[in-house]
Amino acid sequence: MSARDTQSQSQGSASGAPLDLSWVREILGATRLGNKFHCFEQIGSTNTHARELAESAAAEGEVVIAESQTHGRGRLGRRWESPPSTNLYFSIVLRPKLAPQHAAQITLMAAVAVADAVASFIAQEVTIKWPNDILVDGRKLAGILTEACCNAGRVEYVILGVGINVNTAIDSMPDDIRRRATSLFDLTGKNVPRENVLHRLIRDLDRCYGVLEASGFDALRPRWEARFNLRGKRVRAELDGQVVTGRACGIDRNGALVLEDENGMLKTIIAGDVIPLER
Ligand code: BTN
Repeated sequence: MSARDTQSQSQGSASGAPLDLSWVREILGATRLGNKFHCFEQIGSTNTHARELAESAAAEGEVVIAESQTHGRGRLGRRWESPPSTNLYFSIVLRPKLAPQHAAQITLMAAVAVADAVASFIAQEVTIKWPNDILVDGRKLAGILTEACCNAGRVEYVILGVGINVNTAIDSMPDDIRRRATSLFDLTGKNVPRENVLHRLIRDLDRCYGVLEASGFDALRPRWEARFNLRGKRVRAELDGQVVTGRACGIDRNGALVLEDENGMLKTIIAGDVIPLER
């Protein structure tokens, strides 16, 4: 079955057609991720609902997807704007066989898959800003929110939430977001069928998750590093009022960002916001 036709339109649809999940299910076939979809017209947060399902024994690969979210969540307690029927908001239940200290590799794996998937729809270069921002020309196209539940020294489940700006016209977004965000519509000048993006994303996530499981993050590392746009740049990392500045060297085995400070000391940053101090 071929990809759905791209509809050329002069502006992003504020309320597009509902997602045709039957097409996505059919074309996905028997992937492990996306084996079951829980669909909502509106929900608080797909991550919150996926966590409730995981707590009540949802299987690995089940997806919660919504046309809009009233309380879409981003990293560090931020809000994720989730207007209806134009973008993608979904969360996948994962049950990886990983030690808790390696759970962050799920975020890195997902960044590779999401970056590859969105790159297939646009001509511009797609980069990853540690740990989970998918950017085009410094503007955010997609975000990833992973939430892990660990028990007795093992990962019980991870909720992998993904938000992608597909057909939102960024002009219609609040001021603060407009300056920092982009969408596939803004980058291509066309409405992109969300089904195509969702199919490609779940397929790429399924493949990258399989590679992570079989061979570990080192097998995905070159793809992550090829899109990492902070290497060698001076950055400021901030978390809870603590600030570290230094030159970004890369990531360590656990997915932490490694910075070299002014005295040549290596510092690892496990969470927080990273702001480039040079372009
Ligand atoms: C970030 O960049 O800070 C992460 C944004 C993640 C947003 C997605 S939308 C689907 C899922 N449900 C949520 O509440 N958040 C994630």
